[in-house]
Amino acid sequence: MENTEKETVQQKREALANALGRTDALMDSFLDVLRQDFSEKDREVRDFHATAAKLIVEPVAKAVEAPAAETRSFAKPQDDERLHMSFQALCSDAMDCSRCQLCKTRKNVVFGTGCNHRPIVMVIGEGPGETEDNMGLPFVGKAGQFLDKWLAAISLSRETNVYITNTVKCRPPQNRDPLPEEKSACFAFLKQQIELIQPQAILCLGKPASTLMTGKDDATMGSLRGKFFFYEGIPLMCTYHPAAVLRDFSLKRPVWDDLKKLARYLGLETGGRA
Ligand code: URA
Repeated sequence: MENTEKETVQQKREALANALGRTDALMDSFLDVLRQDFSEKDREVRDFHATAAKLIVEPVAKAVEAPAAETRSFAKPQDDERLHMSFQALCSDAMDCSRCQLCKTRKNVVFGTGCNHRPIVMVIGEGPGETEDNMGLPFVGKAGQFLDKWLAAISLSRETNVYITNTVKCRPPQNRDPLPEEKSACFAFLKQQIELIQPQAILCLGKPASTLMTGKDDATMGSLRGKFFFYEGIPLMCTYHPAAVLRDFSLKRPVWDDLKKLARYLGLETGGRA
């Protein structure tokens, strides 16, 4: 073998050894995290997916799709009772809120509904409509009934494992889009809701929620949907709003694709029809 040929073979060997070494190190750290995460008896099996996400999906999605938000973990988890008390306090604060003009025309503050402790998914819509304003609950009109079907199709429900809220907690008059200053006034509530509730994943419905949560103010829904972003380390998926799909049925297929992607990521069954 010529000298240059020998050198090339040697370089290839080294590159291969290097790559194998890195794979070994990755497997070791994977095993460490698995051992650590499963040494506590009462953790749920679903935590396996969180662990896998931490190690594989997050870094890969970050590298491939360059998500907007930096991945940061929460401050030390508080105990459940303190979390519950803080959540109740936050909710009472919101009930008296007058941080923006929407307080003048609302009938009710629509704070949120569903599983408020570590749900699998937290859904963020746009803002309450007329029915929601009357009832003080999010997504209870036509769009909400449609949303419930989407959730059921991927083994989720507001009664068991989903929390539902909006970018703004008070109804914008005539159902107009919330204004930027209204969304930013209300963001303090949303941010704290996420911190206290600790969802495994976030699903944003429609443009106001999707642009707010990804920080991509000028992006279109077409460019945001179907990709994983991260908000404070929590995987986040955007898709079309159910009201938009009720107006334009051609959006049904992309929504179903997005929901299936989210379900696969969370290890949820997708047996139901969307
Ligand atoms: N649309 C939304 O975005 N939120 C609701 O709560 C109801 C309809």
